[in-house]
Amino acid sequence: MTRGDYAPAQVLFGGDWSPEQWDPATWDEDLALMRRAKVNTVTLGVFSWSALEPTEGAFVTDWLDEILERITAAGIGFFLATPTASPPPWFTRAHPDALPVRPDGTRLTHGSRDTYAISAPAYREASRRIARRLAERYGDHPGLRGWHLHNEYGTLDHGPHAERAFQAWLARRYGTIDALNRAWTTAFWSQGYADFAEITPPRATQYLPNPAQAIDFRRFSSDEMLAAMVEQREEIRSVGSTAPVTTNFMLPTWNHLEQWSWADEQDVVSLDHYLDTVGPDAEAHVAYGSDLARSWSGGPWVLMEQNARGIRVDGRTVAKGADRMIRHCLGYIARGSQSSLFFQWRQSAGGSEQWHGALVPHAGGDTRGFAAVERLGGILERLAPVTALPADGPLVRSEVGILWHADAWWALETPDLPSSHLSYSAEVRATHRSFWRAGIPVDFVRPLADLSAHRLLVLAAQYPLSDAQVTWLEEFVEGGGELVVTYLSGLADEHLRIATGGYPGRLRELLGVRGEELLPLPAGERITLSDGSEAEGWTELLETTDAEVLAAYTHGELASLPAITRARRGAGRVTYVSAGWTQEARDQRLSALAAELGISPTLPGAAERGLEAVRRRSAGADHLFLLHHGAAPVTVRADGQDLLSGDSATGGLRLEPGESAVLGLAPDAPITLLED
Ligand code: GLA
Repeated sequence: MTRGDYAPAQVLFGGDWSPEQWDPATWDEDLALMRRAKVNTVTLGVFSWSALEPTEGAFVTDWLDEILERITAAGIGFFLATPTASPPPWFTRAHPDALPVRPDGTRLTHGSRDTYAISAPAYREASRRIARRLAERYGDHPGLRGWHLHNEYGTLDHGPHAERAFQAWLARRYGTIDALNRAWTTAFWSQGYADFAEITPPRATQYLPNPAQAIDFRRFSSDEMLAAMVEQREEIRSVGSTAPVTTNFMLPTWNHLEQWSWADEQDVVSLDHYLDTVGPDAEAHVAYGSDLARSWSGGPWVLMEQNARGIRVDGRTVAKGADRMIRHCLGYIARGSQSSLFFQWRQSAGGSEQWHGALVPHAGGDTRGFAAVERLGGILERLAPVTALPADGPLVRSEVGILWHADAWWALETPDLPSSHLSYSAEVRATHRSFWRAGIPVDFVRPLADLSAHRLLVLAAQYPLSDAQVTWLEEFVEGGGELVVTYLSGLADEHLRIATGGYPGRLRELLGVRGEELLPLPAGERITLSDGSEAEGWTELLETTDAEVLAAYTHGELASLPAITRARRGAGRVTYVSAGWTQEARDQRLSALAAELGISPTLPGAAERGLEAVRRRSAGADHLFLLHHGAAPVTVRADGQDLLSGDSATGGLRLEPGESAVLGLAPDAPITLLED
């Protein structure tokens, strides 16, 4: 299988199932409920290490054999996890050095999960062993839909094993200690190293750490975890299992992985996505997670986990409601997910996450919650034609790209930047939200990627840029591309060394501007620009060298100086936004720019009425997903049929608020929103 080819015959529906937490009578009830809801996939083994290997080297698999027999008889397939995210007590007793160490030197103890030191040889060996063992026993099982390696890689270790591995990683990256000293600016504060062996992970220290050391440690940690994942994959392959391999990424709150390089090592990308807002922004968040996962995967992807019941926000869980839960599931599928999988199947009676939502709530199958799950199962069954892949081209056509790279996330987490209120994910998400609000499809773009499909590219807070990345951007613009660059982009090179001579140094020539001072605004203060738009958080003392001024500052000492500029380069143009634009200003300017470039929404007029429209391409057909988040009925006309209701849309299909439809259409068939 090549990445981008993951095409199950049906939308995968189900979730994490932990039969080891329950007795066989509950298994019977579970299987009866799974049949009722048309569940076709479960994920097994995620945290089952102590059940599979209760003492070192003694493997107990009869319970799993029995579970597989039962689900196979019920026609249910499975992802099988390697349980390495939660080593059992015997392991940590025997190998206390394999527990992770915090920057302050605290060695964590057993009692939760994810307590592993990724570079500890004993941990790596035990992980390889159990991965191999599972592959030997289950690797050719006909119901195996894929290997779910580990769970949400992401524990950082600052202990002695990490120290040695970090030193070796640095030696490979820099070659000589002189090169590292230059890249890290170790002349500052007397940090000059004579040997790689003197370097430690960034640990608790008297004052600020070196930012270059901090970001390299994040890169190293991602690479080290990736190496551990690849080892598991190789064990599985070495015993002949050819089932697709994935590991579940996690969004949105933390990010310890560089997803593009991780995607290269998997057959399909999978994502755990937990919403963090209950307002209308939850729907925009679904689209954001989906567009990232599809872009990382380079096509279809697997939604491995979501919360069935509610959204956790402000310290409480807010129920989603059946229609909304269904619209969210369809929102992921519209943008390339081949699944609707959940954490978890049955709500736990005990253990740390006993209050986390599940498909089967504590109150059981005779509940409105489970009725919604059954409704969802019926809907997903009718979506089987959607999972077939188009013969060529993308799943979702998009002319807009947003650059994504974990380096920028990590760079903005280094200490003592000009403002401590900077967040890469907030900037990128706000940019994506603007296009979502306009109904315009978006891809995320890997640095140095082929941009021939994208006419508009946005760089949001892309703080570090390498030489190659700068050249790539210049070529995009020269060749006719439209580039938008926001503040905090291009200030530094990949070692977080500021490019001097004026901000943003890496892009100064391309943008035709020169900034002298970065002037963050006090929290809560809003300023107005000369075009009437508002800005918050950030301003710059800027002059143009070879660009026109689209909007000027109007306040204080910056009054009448450039705020937003545009330069022409070759056949293209580049806009620089030096002010921290508000969401409204961002929405307005990006949708106006898209309109100027002739980049249209999927269904013009829909987004304004709360109707989300996404066109997913499949084999010989398009599927138009219509998700109605708005408050008044809408009618859409297209020459096709709704897969959900069976109704024709040829004369117009009416959607009430909260409803959804998935129209099967001829490729590129026209679609219209009718006036009510
Ligand atoms: C993660 C994990 C699950 C569970 C959920 C709860 O995504 O993978 O095991 O803890 O979070 O939201």
